[in-house]
Amino acid sequence: MMRQAGRYLPEYRQVRAKAGSFLDLCYTPDLATEVTLQPIRRFGFDAAILFSDILVVPQALGQKVWFVDGEGPRLSPIDLARPGLEPERLVERLAPVFEAVSRIRAALPPETTLLGFCGAPWTLLTYMIAGRGTPDQLPARKAVLLDPAGVDRLIDVLVEASIGYLAAQLRAGADAVQIFDTWAGGLDDAGFQRLVIEPTRRIVEGLRREVPGARVIGFPKGAGGHLPTYVRETGVNAVGIDWQASLDFVRDHVQPLRPVQGNLDPLHLVTGGAALDAAVDRILDRLGGRPLIFNLGHGITPDGDIDNVTRMLGRLRGAGQR
Ligand code: CP3
Repeated sequence: MMRQAGRYLPEYRQVRAKAGSFLDLCYTPDLATEVTLQPIRRFGFDAAILFSDILVVPQALGQKVWFVDGEGPRLSPIDLARPGLEPERLVERLAPVFEAVSRIRAALPPETTLLGFCGAPWTLLTYMIAGRGTPDQLPARKAVLLDPAGVDRLIDVLVEASIGYLAAQLRAGADAVQIFDTWAGGLDDAGFQRLVIEPTRRIVEGLRREVPGARVIGFPKGAGGHLPTYVRETGVNAVGIDWQASLDFVRDHVQPLRPVQGNLDPLHLVTGGAALDAAVDRILDRLGGRPLIFNLGHGITPDGDIDNVTRMLGRLRGAGQR
């Protein structure tokens, strides 16, 4: 379940309070291991995802990153002409993340998959340029048009950083990795090709050179009609489907190419009831019987209700037996 370790769980809030800051939690292997295992213990999911954040990569490259409680991430300003990043220090600075990966793998039941992850270059760039989350990614989209060469240089750094970061996670024990491109939907056709497909293709290719057979799930949120091109051209093994996607389109044009993962609207875990049941059934009806990893179409929110997660799982597991 996307963002399965988080504030909707009381046991997470307890560890988070003990850790102090969110980033301290990410960088303390014992605590990161504990919060990764919490949803597995409680719900018995088939896969665990490493507890960390996509913004540890810009931080390990030397940009200042911090989280304001109740607001979200903040990053120090970056000058595209002189970004002053330190890619050579990345893997060393992220050592606590790899330590967490090996501890999690050792603690998980052998049949439970462990996913590592990173943010896709375009999504990271939207935070690195704006210095925070933005509803429309306007600062980054302006930079793409006003300083294409500067953007390309930054993308190159992020592609190389992502290859090294994901390779180290796989070597530490992750079974597969996921590339989160949360803001993929904010670009025009040319931008999607240049800033979503092309960098992801380079990461997948570079990663398989470092770790032969590396398995990668892409999540280009908002990709819509670009999904078939995205899977064909990037070479991902499976693709995450956001909750706005057309299920008929996915069944006809994406599932024949690759297994899909998704796509329940996380709001159903806030509201529950018969609407939740119907939404689960609809996904199984449209995408079931073909390669499908049932998941949310975006992360569970802090107001998600644990009882609704249990209800969703009961419905799914019941359907599996029918
Ligand atoms: O799925 C998991 O359980 C693994 C953990 C995970 C987190 N972030 C933990 C987190 C993963 C996979 C992410 C990815 C991530 N981080 C993305 C891509 C996926 C998506 O949701 O779109 C993005 C865009 C980020 C950046 C980020 N991190 C933002 C914008 C925020 C603030 C918003 C918020 O919910 O507070 C975060 C913080 C964050 N990352 C939290 C968690 C559990 C909440 C921090 C807290 O405990 O206070």
